[in-house]
Amino acid sequence: MESKIKRNEFLKSLGFKGASLLAVYCGTTALSSCENESNVTPSGGVDFTVDLSNAAYSKLNTAGNYIILNKVVIARTSAATNGFAAVTQICSHEGQAQVYFTGSGFACPAHGATFSLTGAKTNNISSKGITAYQTSLSGTTLRVFS
Ligand code: FES
Repeated sequence: MESKIKRNEFLKSLGFKGASLLAVYCGTTALSSCENESNVTPSGGVDFTVDLSNAAYSKLNTAGNYIILNKVVIARTSAATNGFAAVTQICSHEGQAQVYFTGSGFACPAHGATFSLTGAKTNNISSKGITAYQTSLSGTTLRVFS
């Protein structure tokens, strides 16, 4: 006989679901076992390179295009050597990994939050901006870093 309410159902009965349910689990377990937490908020520690001669990334040679790599949205904002912008894919509103490049800034379609090229919020859907990263192009190697 099953007299205990399963933890998951108990939390759901309290109205927790989705990201907040995950947060409850994370909050009650050791940080080291909470792998999803770091995936949800990649705040720092970013440092990787993208080879723009690689066909998979060559669209970044043309202004207006973007790619998503390592949960970072990397946009080609202009033809200039420094014409790049990079921000986290994770929206600051409710943590959806849906941020994309609009051509002039960044946006999240989940609820309509918009952000500037430097990650500042440009409407009031989210109460704060999103993390932006630095970029530097050397030859065909683009470095994206914190
Ligand atoms: S999660 Fe991005 S707008 Fe709500």
